[in-house]
Formats: sequence, C-alpha cells, structure tokens
Amino acid sequence: MILAVETSCDDTCAAVVTDDGEIRSNVIASQGLLHARYGGVVPEIASRRHLELIDAVIDDALERAGTGMDAIDRVAVTRGPGLIGALLVGVSVAKALAAVRRLPLVPVDHLHGHVVASTLGDKPIEPPFLCLVASGGHTFVASVEDAGSYEVLGQTLDDAAGEAFDKGARLLGLPYPGGPEMDRLAKQGDAAAFDFPRSLPGDGLDFSFSGLKTALLYRVRDLGEEEAGRRRADLAASYQRAIVDSLLTRARQAIEREGARRFAIGGGVAANSELRERITATCAELCVELWVPDRSLCTDNAAMIAAASRFTPALDYPEYLSLDASARVA
Ligand SMILES: Nc1ncnc2c1ncn2[C@@H]1O[C@H](COP(=O)(O)OP(=O)(O)OP(=O)(O)O)[C@@H](O)[C@H]1O
Ligand SMILES: [Mg+2]
Repeated sequence: MILAVETSCDDTCAAVVTDDGEIRSNVIASQGLLHARYGGVVPEIASRRHLELIDAVIDDALERAGTGMDAIDRVAVTRGPGLIGALLVGVSVAKALAAVRRLPLVPVDHLHGHVVASTLGDKPIEPPFLCLVASGGHTFVASVEDAGSYEVLGQTLDDAAGEAFDKGARLLGLPYPGGPEMDRLAKQGDAAAFDFPRSLPGDGLDFSFSGLKTALLYRVRDLGEEEAGRRRADLAASYQRAIVDSLLTRARQAIEREGARRFAIGGGVAANSELRERITATCAELCVELWVPDRSLCTDNAAMIAAASRFTPALDYPEYLSLDASARVA
C-alpha cells in the first residue's frame, strides 16, 4: 500500500492507495475559505496552514483506509511544481515518515499526477492514450505511451484555463475560487449572449487565454457596472463557452492528428460541467473511449500522486534524505 502526500498549493492532501489503483482513502483539507478574503492563494499562509493540518490529514487518511503506518510499503510525495514553501511541508513530512521506517520514497511530478488520475479505480485507462490537463497553473495536451512519462504536444502560451476561469470570475465579482462559481452561474445564463474570442495560436496544439480575459474586461467596462451585474449569468455562460470551445477544438485536433483511441481529462478544470458534458459528446462522435475522473480526482488530491508513484522510480533510504522540493519542474 502507498501513502501519498500532496501540498503543492492550498489543499492539504493525503491518500492511501493500493498498488493496483484501488483508492482506500483520499482526504482533502481545502484552505479555500482561508484565502478567499485575499482573492487568491497567499503562499506564506498556505505553507503555515499545511504545517498545522498535515499530521491530522495523514492520520485521517490512514484511519479512513482502516489501516496504520505498519501496513504502508511506500511513501509518495509531490515534489513540484507548486509553491515552494507549501511543497517543502509535504516533502519534509514524507521524508520523515519514510525514513523512520526505512521505507522507499517516491518523488512525484504533480502534473504527472493529473495526467494519470484516470489510471485509478475499477476501470483504469491503459496507455497509449492522450490526456488534456487543464488546471490552475497549466493547460496542455499530452501523449502517454507508457504511464511513467508523458509528452506534451501543445500547451498554453500564456494563462492556464483555470486561471482564465478564476480571473474572469473575479471580473464578474464572483468569490474565490472562481472556477466552480462560474460553472454554477453559467448554468443560468445564455452562452450565445456575448461573442468572446477563441484564440488558437499557431498550427499546432497550443492554447492562449489571455486575450479572452481582456475581452471580458472590456465587455464588463462597456456594459457598465449595473448592466454587467444584471447580465452576469449571460457573461459567465458566454465566457465559459469560449474556454471550453478552445479546449475541445484542441482535444479534437489532437485525437485526429495522433489517431488516438483513448482520451482522458485531468486537472481542476476537468471538474467543469460543460467540459465534462461536451468532451463526452466529442469523443462519442469520434468513436474514442473517454475517461472522465470523479471531480475529487480532478482538483488537487493525493490519490493521483499515489497513482503516478506506481510508475515512478522509488528512492531508497538514505538516498532521499537529500531530496528537495522544486517550484518549477519536478
Ligand atoms: N467546476 C469548475 N469549473 C471550472 N474551473 C474549475 C472548476 N473546479 C475547479 N476549477 C479550477 O481548477 C483550478 C484548480 O485546479 P488544480 O487544483 O488542479 O490547480 P492547481 O493545482 O492550482 O494548478 P496546477 O495543477 O497547474 O499546479 C482553479 O483554477 C479552479 O478555478
Ligand atoms: Mg493541480
């Protein structure tokens, strides 16, 4: 059994997962409310909160799995990318837990976790497959030939899709985190009410969302505060439609170009209702088998870190004592 720890941003997470991908527990202590008053994640506050929560979250994960440290064979931890102070809490705790029991430790790339989230559960996806990862800090399409690595085929040149959701939500006066709020509000609006740009840069599979965000800014300004407030649901629905259209266009192009038979989505934006619905229709139309992870496996969680650790070389004691967190590349 694997005990996995994830503290790359503002969720304190621990999970117990078996080697064949059965999730025994997946505990997520969200710090969302703590950061909401600042309108975004404050790195220093996130690190301190991880420190306060991590022991209880790990105990809870073990308890919910009906097990204890004695049954754990391996510890996995997010090494990066993410907020360095936040990552250091997870890495230090994981090293300590592993070292006292002389267990192997697996340092995991957070994005690899998002890519292989669909390898968990009863009906795991198997390579080769393509994966669209859309999260708070990243947006890319990757090709997975074996589950131990992934090749990025195209990625965002500026903002991530989740960032576009969060910044757009903020312009509409919605509380942080904006993605889920925009998702809810969009359900009440008319997606054809406003015409927002769908930017598809270059001939490849890259994305761009910064122009869209600026278009919303101007539209809100032109409408004026009162009218923009009155038409908030229409603005949200139209803006969300533009983000999802861009993601779907690239997904379709990637599937056609690579001749893919299996497709998965991952990352926080994969929790979006419109994306989940429409990617299902797109894949059905293209006769491609689709894996849509449970929402709890899309946003940050430790089960996906355990998933990726099964395909990542482990470090033995005492080799990992010098392991460092990495803000950029894992
Ligand atoms: N239902 C939803 N609709 C749209 N966006 C959503 C939804 N739920 C979550 N998100 C967005 O997902 C993002 C969070 O995803 P995730 O936790 O994977 O990102 P992160 O870990 O901060 O970034 P990264 O994984 O790139 O390091 C946020 O931008 C959030 O607004
Ligand atoms: Mg993430």
